[in-house]
This record gives sequence, C-alpha cells and structure tokens, in this order.
Amino acid sequence: MDFDIDRLMREEIKDLPMYNPGKSPEDVAREYGIADCVKMASNENPLGPSPLAVEAAKKAMSMAHLYPDGNSTRLREALSRRLGVGVECILAGHGADEIFDLLAYAFLRRDDEMVVGDPSFSSYELAAMTMGARVRKVPLREYRQHIPAMLDAAGARTKMVVLCSPLNPTGTTVSREELEEMLESLPRDVLLLLDEAYVEYVTDPEYPDVMVYFTIHPRLVITRTFSKIYGLAGLRVGYAVCHPTVREALEKVKLPFNVNRIAQEAALAALEDEEHVRRSREANRRGKERLYLLLEELGMEYVPTQANFILVKNGPYADLFDRLLRHGVIVRAGEAMGLPGHVRITIGDDAQNDVLERALRAIVGGG
Ligand SMILES: Cc1ncc(COP(=O)(O)O)c(C=O)c1O
Repeated sequence: MDFDIDRLMREEIKDLPMYNPGKSPEDVAREYGIADCVKMASNENPLGPSPLAVEAAKKAMSMAHLYPDGNSTRLREALSRRLGVGVECILAGHGADEIFDLLAYAFLRRDDEMVVGDPSFSSYELAAMTMGARVRKVPLREYRQHIPAMLDAAGARTKMVVLCSPLNPTGTTVSREELEEMLESLPRDVLLLLDEAYVEYVTDPEYPDVMVYFTIHPRLVITRTFSKIYGLAGLRVGYAVCHPTVREALEKVKLPFNVNRIAQEAALAALEDEEHVRRSREANRRGKERLYLLLEELGMEYVPTQANFILVKNGPYADLFDRLLRHGVIVRAGEAMGLPGHVRITIGDDAQNDVLERALRAIVGGG
C-alpha cells in the first residue's frame, strides 16, 4: 500500500519541535547509573500538594464513573471570589498549557505572527507554530523582556504578544509601567497574553495587580496555574482570566470535559488551603535566601528571582549541568532553554537544598 505520511501531514507540523521536559530521575538512573537523584528542574512545589487537595482527590475518585462538569463551575466560582472578577471572565484549562493551545486555535491563522521574548517558556511558540503562525522572538535585555523592542516587533500581521511574568527561565518580572505601555501602545486587534504561572511566589511589593487591567483592556488574557505553588502539576489544572468575549471564543475550541473531576475537586481544595500556600511561599523565600548566600560565597553569579527557580551562570564550570548530574542533582540546562552558559535550578525543600549545596561546594572545590 502506498501510504505516505509526508503527503498526509500538514506542512507546519513536519518541522515542529517537540516540547523537551528535561531529564527525569529514571533517565539519570538509566544513563548515568546514579540512583537517588534530586530533581530540581521542573519548578514543582517541593512540599507536594495540600493534604486537603489529596483528600478531595481521593473522595472524587468514587465518582470517577461520571463525566465531570465541563464548565468547571465551582472552581470558576471559587476563583471568581478569590480574584474579585466575574465568573464569566474565567476559563479553566487542562493546565495553563491548554489555554495557550486554545488561544492559538481560536485566534492564529497561517502566517499570522506572535511576538515573544527570547528566551521564554516554549509552549507559546509551539502552540503558534502548530497553527502555521510565525513567531518573532525578541531578545531579552539584561534577562528581562525588552518591552520597547517587543512593541517595535509588533507589525501588521501580529495577532498576539506574549509576556511571561515572572519570566521562565530568568525569574524577572514586568513592571506596572511596562505592562501599561504594552496595553496602551499595541496596535488594535492584538491580544496580549500575560502568563503568571509563578505569580504567587512574587515578593516584590511593586509587582502590579494585573486583575485591574483586563476590564479596561479587553485584549489582555491572564493565565495562571495550579501546577506551581498549589503543587498539582500532575493533575493538570490552569485557568485564564479574560474578557467574556475572549472566553466565549476559547470555549468553542476546548474539549467538552477538559478538566477532569479529580483535578477540579483537588484544585478547589488547594485554593481553600491558604495555610499550605503560605507555607510553600515561606519555604521558597527561605530557600531562595539560602541559595543566594551560598552562590555569593562560592563566587557564582545568578539572576535575582521572583519565582521558585534561580538562573545561575556557569562561570568557569562550563559543564555545570553535567557535574551537578554526577553529584545527583538534576537541573535544567541553559542550552535547552536558549540560554547557553547557564543552568536553571528549582528552589528545593531543606533536604534537596542540602544535596545541592554539597554538590556545588564539591564542584567549586574541584570535584
Ligand atoms: C511560565 C510557565 N507557564 C506555564 C507553565 C505550564 O503550566 P501548566 O502546568 O499549568 O500547563 C509552565 C510550566 O513550567 C511555565 O513555566
């Protein structure tokens, strides 16, 4: 039979890169023969999920034979109360990742353009490329998204500009003035996606409360997630906050039951467990201060962060990623994120940070 996959496949899919999630402890055990690795690579919550979320998920299992609420109504109502925005402005997704796909399905045509920082989180551009849209990547300036250059890059074909704040992989944020400049200066009919996956970790008191903007600026779509501080990365729940007309467009292209029953119940319970969020934020703050001090003592340069990860320069240790691996610590290699000469380290709990500290001391000491 003459079956030609290349003839069948859409052109834009042929060269589409795959999302690279980095190495798992299982990969490292297989490839390097190292058991008991600590993984400080995916910006997950080292304290785990809220115990209340675990209970809620277990309870929801007994109803697993029934389809979930396709509108995630109770979760959206709880978010609406928490964020002070109308429930009609909230769409729950299978992780924030699904929202990026939905935005691309609903709004990006072939040869439309998306403007994004370089580097930035890779899911936005993968979603755009799937639709045949072009991605204009605007280099960062001093590890921050360069707002004037991104505005310059937004041309007649631009449909969407993406800001990530705090930015993965650098941990830097967009200021109030920069956000306002972007909202006011972009051409008409351009969406601004502001991805705030790590917002709950921000300690900068000047960081803008972005919920005040989207009623005045219908172009603004804010995304957040339960994967980070809420510790539910494995259940896949995220959400968008946006103008109701944008939400309606996204609803048309989402799967009917995009957030499963267990995930909805766990997310609701996680949202209510403010104590777990407070503990997680505090542990991150302590871990961050500890790693800052350690890196300074060891003479290693880093980018001050507003998130739960730190970008560290390799400095004289060109193979820092490999050396950390050999000491049993998995981090994210800069090369994979468009930042050669760096590694991104997720801030761990005390035990993980101990392992990291021993590894860094050994490497700097010649190990
Ligand atoms: C900036 C950013 N946005 C979104 C996500 C993915 O979120 P979710 O797990 O909700 O799909 C990540 C995950 O690492 C991220 O770093």
